[in-house]
Amino acid sequence: MTTRSAEGTNNNDAEQGEPILRVVPRPGDINANGHIFGGWVLSQMDIAAGIVASRRADGPVATVAIEAMKFIGPILLHDVISVFARIERTGRTSMGIRIEVIASRNRGTEEVMVTEALFTFVALDENNRPRALPAA
Ligand SMILES: CC(C)(COP(=O)(O)OP(=O)(O)OC[C@H]1O[C@@H](n2cnc3c(N)ncnc32)[C@H](O)[C@@H]1OP(=O)(O)O)[C@@H](O)C(=O)NCCC(=O)NCCS
Repeated sequence: MTTRSAEGTNNNDAEQGEPILRVVPRPGDINANGHIFGGWVLSQMDIAAGIVASRRADGPVATVAIEAMKFIGPILLHDVISVFARIERTGRTSMGIRIEVIASRNRGTEEVMVTEALFTFVALDENNRPRALPAA
């Protein structure tokens, strides 16, 4: 688990500049342990990756794979989560997007890396078939 203070250094691979999303979980997102459902954070990660992929593809995209999903630490009620995304690789039609989620708690004095994964998105044409990515 990566922890840091609000004044700490940036040591997260995908974290560059502003997060793609900042979200606060709701009480209905809690599981029986009092933590936030893994499926909830996964959907936030998919949304953030989709935003980045769609920008790069300049059009529609779809998630084709999620790999290396790691739930490193729990997300708690009252955390503010920040979802960071970075394009790690591009192919002919696909993009690998590294996602990292940081939970900010105790009024932002503590920041904890809670989840990371590699999402693969494919650019789609009008028939929902793979489309070559435009030049970067
Ligand atoms: C996305 C989709 C159109 C791709 O169709 P496909 O016939 O698998 O396409 P291809 O085999 O030509 O692969 C297209 C690209 O995806 C990559 N790819 C396909 N499956 C992959 C996988 N499991 N992991 C990583 N990359 C994969 C290929 O390597 C290729 O990349 P490249 O062009 O950069 O070399 C099709 O799989 C699909 O519609 N999937 C459902 C998407 C969806 O609904 N997502 C939301 C789920 S809720």
